[in-house]
Amino acid sequence: MRVAICTGGGDAPGLNAVIRSVVLTGTNRGWEMHGVEQGFGGLLGEADVVSLGRREVYGITHVGGTILGTTNRGNPFKWPRREADGSWSEVDRSNEVLAAFREHRLDALIVVGGDGTLHIAFELWKKGLPVVGIPKTIDNDVGGTLVTFGFDTAVSTATDAIDKVRSTAASHRRVLVVELMGRNAGWIALNSGLAGDADVVLIPEIPFEMEKVCAKILEREERGLHHSIVVVAEGAAPKSGEVSLNAAAGPGFSARLGGMGNKVAQWISEMTGKETRAVALGHLQRGGTPTTFDRLLALRFGAEATRAVAAGRFGDMVAYKPPKVETLSLEVVLGQAKLVPLDGDTICTARELGVSLGD
Ligand code: F6P
Repeated sequence: MRVAICTGGGDAPGLNAVIRSVVLTGTNRGWEMHGVEQGFGGLLGEADVVSLGRREVYGITHVGGTILGTTNRGNPFKWPRREADGSWSEVDRSNEVLAAFREHRLDALIVVGGDGTLHIAFELWKKGLPVVGIPKTIDNDVGGTLVTFGFDTAVSTATDAIDKVRSTAASHRRVLVVELMGRNAGWIALNSGLAGDADVVLIPEIPFEMEKVCAKILEREERGLHHSIVVVAEGAAPKSGEVSLNAAAGPGFSARLGGMGNKVAQWISEMTGKETRAVALGHLQRGGTPTTFDRLLALRFGAEATRAVAAGRFGDMVAYKPPKVETLSLEVVLGQAKLVPLDGDTICTARELGVSLGD
């Protein structure tokens, strides 16, 4: 067997652990293992397909990023192309991926990615590519799995940041707004906001009202608590407004969220008169050493993907269904983006603790 692995979409802590797991569990079965660099780019002549053995994956379980590289502008069905007049268009290069797969005499491709990359994997599988998917994203928004690796590390980093801004907020009697990633899901903001004792947590699933946010801050003020911590998910939006974008969508890439933290800080300062500062944690959430939980999940996902290849379970995705790791059909999984359930116990706990969710 000749099996390849690629990593696509935004990176997440634990990717190197999953690569190591796939390579070692495959090698131990006597397979030849390969890595496709830069998402699917290595199969499109934009990067390489490299041989991976024990030596290449030695000591990388704890290392952030991905040794294979990745891109979130790498959809072979919508590959960006620069035209002669300088404009950009999108071309379908999926047949080239299939041809390259055959040229490299591969038997299976393990695709590690978030929602977007797994969709691509599913489309390639429908065209005949023997694919097994492994979910990864700090956003935790892939359906079918309780959690994705990368999420726990991102939440730890965010909680640590909230802890750190609290002391400076208290010293200066300020409001500190912390903007966190997560796309259209509020998992990172809600979990780290709760763990970090934030006073207000704004998530995409609950459109917020600034009056409610400010009421919480002023109520604290009256109780002699002169500082407040407001956590804002990058995809959160006011009831009567839109999400904030850092960049619009273009050929081969989707719109980039960002800036809501600054807006909320500005509104708080105008409406309460409180001195307010904002910090956007950004890509710090994607980097660094994966937590023990993320390493273990990634190692378990990698081994399960190898088992799926061995059993010929193509078109499937690995999922964490505690206490087990198992595989599910990609088709079933991809229909359902996983958002924070409004009747879930974490939301109830936040409300019962007195955290304002801006509604
Ligand atoms: O999906 C992971 C993620 O980090 C999102 O939380 C965020 O919106 C996006 O990727 C940022 O992408 P980029 O790497 O293009 O800045």
